[in-house]
Amino acid sequence: MALENKLGLTSSADLAREEERISKKKAVWLFESGTLDKLPVGTFASLKEIHKYLFDGIYDFAGELRTVNLAKGNFRFAPLMYLEAALTNIEKMPQDTFDEIIEKYVEMNVAHPFREGNGRSMRIWLDLMLKNRIAQVVDWSKVDKEDYLLAMERSPIKDVEIKVLLKAALTDDVDSREVFMKGIDHSYYYEGYTTFKTEEL
Ligand SMILES: Nc1ncnc2c1ncn2[C@@H]1O[C@H](COP(=O)(O)OP(=O)(O)OP(=O)(O)O)[C@@H](O)[C@H]1O
Ligand SMILES: [Mg+2]
Repeated sequence: MALENKLGLTSSADLAREEERISKKKAVWLFESGTLDKLPVGTFASLKEIHKYLFDGIYDFAGELRTVNLAKGNFRFAPLMYLEAALTNIEKMPQDTFDEIIEKYVEMNVAHPFREGNGRSMRIWLDLMLKNRIAQVVDWSKVDKEDYLLAMERSPIKDVEIKVLLKAALTDDVDSREVFMKGIDHSYYYEGYTTFKTEEL
């Protein structure tokens, strides 16, 4: 039932709880240690590092590309055979304006490089780009989760909704640990709910 994990947990509810607890502790450390500020901005290497930090204690695949095709709802993420090429192209996308950064984020979501934990690591990766280029970050407590998911579902077709939603939640409070942690709190950790479940194809 649960994804194979280093903790030996077999119930998805137990795994969800532990995953949340551990990844939050790691996120605090990432922020407090200044590790985040040293990462190159907008590269796949930095997203990989973030994913590895958050999930190393939980999954063997922390920081590793997925080895299966994935879908959520009706949407199929990038087919495995194109994944590496997609990541190379995404890395080259510009990231100078708010719109460019969100467009890059949307493409990274389509790539969905990891088996699990894409949302949490990508929100940190996104905030790094925003902080670096426009001196603002998203205050995720101002983003309704349902609205976010609907906008992300829609984003591969039209990205205007996610742009409007995230623009309204921008803050200048870029050095606040509280604001930073809201991106992780934002998680839907109930993978058991079929609507949000990632399917292996
Ligand atoms: N139907 C969909 N189509 C496209 N993208 C989606 C869809 N549903 C969810 N997403 C994206 O996938 C992310 C979740 O991916 P994943 O489960 O790997 O990450 P997570 O960190 O476990 O979850 P969360 O983002 O809820 O914290 C969401 O944050 C959203 O960006
Ligand atoms: Mg998930």
